[in-house]
Amino acid sequence: MLKKKNKYVVAVAGATGAVGREMIEILGERNFPVAELIPLASERSAGERVELNGKHWTVKQLGKNSFKGVDIALFSAGAERSLEFAPAAVESGAVVIDNSSAFRMDPKVPLIVPEVNAHAIAKHSGIIANPNCSTIGMVLVLKPIHDAATIKRVVVTTFQSVSGTGKKGMDELAQQTVALLSFKDVETNVYPHQIAFNCLPHIDSFLENGYTREEMKMANETKKIMEDGALRLTATAVRVPVFRGHSESINIETGKKISANEVRAVLSAAPGVVVYDDPKKNIYPTAIDIVGKDETYVGRIREDESVPNGINLWLVSDNVRKGAALNAVQIAELLIK
Ligand SMILES: NC(=O)c1ccc[n+]([C@@H]2O[C@H](COP(=O)([O-])OP(=O)(O)OC[C@H]3O[C@@H](n4cnc5c(N)ncnc54)[C@H](OP(=O)(O)O)[C@@H]3O)[C@@H](O)[C@H]2O)c1
Repeated sequence: MLKKKNKYVVAVAGATGAVGREMIEILGERNFPVAELIPLASERSAGERVELNGKHWTVKQLGKNSFKGVDIALFSAGAERSLEFAPAAVESGAVVIDNSSAFRMDPKVPLIVPEVNAHAIAKHSGIIANPNCSTIGMVLVLKPIHDAATIKRVVVTTFQSVSGTGKKGMDELAQQTVALLSFKDVETNVYPHQIAFNCLPHIDSFLENGYTREEMKMANETKKIMEDGALRLTATAVRVPVFRGHSESINIETGKKISANEVRAVLSAAPGVVVYDDPKKNIYPTAIDIVGKDETYVGRIREDESVPNGINLWLVSDNVRKGAALNAVQIAELLIK
């Protein structure tokens, strides 16, 4: 359990990555009471410096002894590192907020989106998990609709940006785009096929049932966060040549009839959600508009005319921010409240 203090020692494992850098920026933006920052990464980045509130901190190599005196450890260095080092951090007395998939479905580990299930944080025993980036934006929108009209089934297709694969994904899209526009051959290292000017229906590895891990994460994590094992969700996750911002097309079937206008009203009152929906004026969210925004933006809200109780909508969320770094810092804020 975290002892109340005026300021906390905060470690960031993966401090040099896309999410880790954003975490440090958000700690500063939101004036999180940091007494000392301990940025951790691989041997490659040890010695680099990161800045928080005008002060520079030297990156150290992540190890089992990195967590002496640490109050809160934000992990964002991949699932393997979380499995290897998060238990050591807890043993040293830190509370771990983990961004990877390592512990999300562990029944002892709360899986938290503060606007949706903040209450579940009380049950933690040292590790708290941050959901998958596509799940976070989606549950912010599903929860208020579920409360209003009881969701029976969700069909979601994602359009996920390359920053979801971290820095190397962004580098690959940039390099391939430049190569193609210069009439040169493309190199493919990060994704199984060319991502520039293409869409890949493949995120994470394929499972025996034909789905990808990413698709099953969305189904399983949603049930856990919404505390409703009966909620049926099927997903198709697609990687698209967008640098940042995940978009999702969502079809929702409810038990009770809810009109498009009622959905607009419910979502307008929902924390962390902005309704941006006036198609006649070409107003609907796109990834370019929402980069750097805290909220998940929703548009194209309309009734599904093929079923008695159905809604279609489109949402866009900044995957590096609310999909990862911001949600983790919000969990840290809940911890020190
Ligand atoms: N990007 C997203 O939208 C997103 C969303 C939700 C969750 N996540 C999760 O967040 C984590 C990080 O993602 P990212 O996008 O920030 O990736 P990234 O840009 O590739 O950064 C990875 C970070 O992990 C560090 N790291 C890698 N191998 C390491 C090792 N052996 N020992 C210590 N540190 C090591 C890297 O350090 P070096 O710089 O030294 O290599 C870097 O700081 C992943 O678990 C990912 O699944 C990402």
